[in-house]
Amino acid sequence: METNFVNLYLAERTREIRSSAIRDILKITVSDSEFLSFAGGLPNPSLLPTDLLDMATEFAIRSMRDVAFQYGESEGYKSLREIVREQFVSERGIDDRSICITSGSQQGLDILGKLLMDQKTNVLLENPVYLGALQAFSPYRPNLISLTMEVDGPNLDALGKILSEKKVHCFYANPSYQNPSTCTWSVAKRKEVASLLDKHEVILIEDEAYLFLDFTGTLYPSIASFRKKRDLSFVLGSFSKILSPGFRLGWVSVPKPYQNIFIATKQGNDLNSNQFSQIVLYHLLLHMDIQKHVQKVQSFYAHQKDYLVGLLKQYLPEVRFQNPLGGMFLWVEFPHVSETEMMRKIMEKKVVMVPGNEFRLEPSEVAFFRMNFSFLKETEMEDGVRRIQDVYRDIIT
Ligand SMILES: Cc1ncc(COP(=O)(O)O)c(C=O)c1O
Repeated sequence: METNFVNLYLAERTREIRSSAIRDILKITVSDSEFLSFAGGLPNPSLLPTDLLDMATEFAIRSMRDVAFQYGESEGYKSLREIVREQFVSERGIDDRSICITSGSQQGLDILGKLLMDQKTNVLLENPVYLGALQAFSPYRPNLISLTMEVDGPNLDALGKILSEKKVHCFYANPSYQNPSTCTWSVAKRKEVASLLDKHEVILIEDEAYLFLDFTGTLYPSIASFRKKRDLSFVLGSFSKILSPGFRLGWVSVPKPYQNIFIATKQGNDLNSNQFSQIVLYHLLLHMDIQKHVQKVQSFYAHQKDYLVGLLKQYLPEVRFQNPLGGMFLWVEFPHVSETEMMRKIMEKKVVMVPGNEFRLEPSEVAFFRMNFSFLKETEMEDGVRRIQDVYRDIIT
C-alpha cells in the first residue's frame, strides 16, 4: 500500500482545519455561469467608485512608485492608519488604542488566534458563528464553546452561567448584522456583556466587518467602549464590504500594551500588508466622500434585501427568518427538510445557498440556509428563488 505522505507529514494542528464551503461553492459558480449564487458575501460591483479608483490607482503608479512598490511598515501605511482612526474608529468610543492595518480583517483573526489561543484555551463563540473565525482559530486547537444567541444579542443567563462555571479566555463576537444569523446586539446588551466580561476578565474579539451596512444609517457603539477593563478588547474592521475585498485590507484596533507583540506576530505572517493596495486606498479615501458612498451602499442593500424578502414571502411563505437591520444576508429556516438533501437538489437546479451547519460546532436538526442579497440582480434573484421553490415543494409534498 502506498504511504500517504500528506497525512504523515502534516502538523497535528492542521488536522483541525475546515475547508470553507463558501469558497468551494464560489469556485463552482465561477466556473459555470449558469449558476445563480445566494452563497457568497460579495459586495455589488456596481457600487465601486470606478472613476476615483482609476485616479487613485494611476496616482499610486505614477507618483507614489517609490513607496507603493516597496515594503512598508508592518502596522500599516501611516496616513492610512490616521484616516482609519478619523473616519472609521473615533466615533465609536475606542480612540485610546493603536490602529494596525491587516491583510483583510481575516488576517486580524488569525493573528489574534496565534496571540491568544493555546491548545485547550477556552474560547467562547456565538452559535451560529462566522466560518472564517473557526478556520482562523481552530489550528491553535482551543476548546471552542458555543453560546446561545437571541435576536438582540447573547442570552445573558447562558453567558453568565458559562462565565461562572469555567475560565473563559476570550469571546469572539460579530455583534452587528452577524454573519450568518443577521442578529444585531442592542445597545443595552452591549453594555451588559461589557460588564460581564469585565467581571470575569475575559478578552473580547469584536469583529465589526459589517458595521457600516445598517439599512437606516445607524452606527452602533463598540462593546469595547463600555468596558472598564479597557485593555481587554480587540476590535476589527474591514474595507471589504463598503469598498472592495480586492484590496484585502482591514484593521484591528489594538490595546496599547499589546501593540508590539501584535505587530511582531503580524511580521511572521506577512511582514506588511499589501503596500500598493494601501496607497491606492489612502488616495481613494482622501478624494471621496466616504459618508455619501456608505449611504449609497446602505440604501442599495436595503432595497436588495427588501426585494429578496418580498420574493420569499411570495414564493416560499413557509420559510422563516428575521428581517435584518443591515448586512448582506438572510438566515432562513426551511421547515421539514434536511440541509443535505435540499443542497444536493438545488445544486442540480444550478442555484446555491450556504447550508447552516457550516456555521455550527454541533450540527442542528433544523435546516437553515444563509442567503446573500448583495450580489444578484433582481431578475436573477427571482429566477433563483423560483428554482429553490420548485425543489422545496418537490421535497415536502
Ligand atoms: C464576520 C466576518 N468577519 C471577517 C470577515 C473577513 O473579511 P475581510 O478579510 O475581507 O476583511 C468576513 C468576511 O466575509 C466576515 O463575514
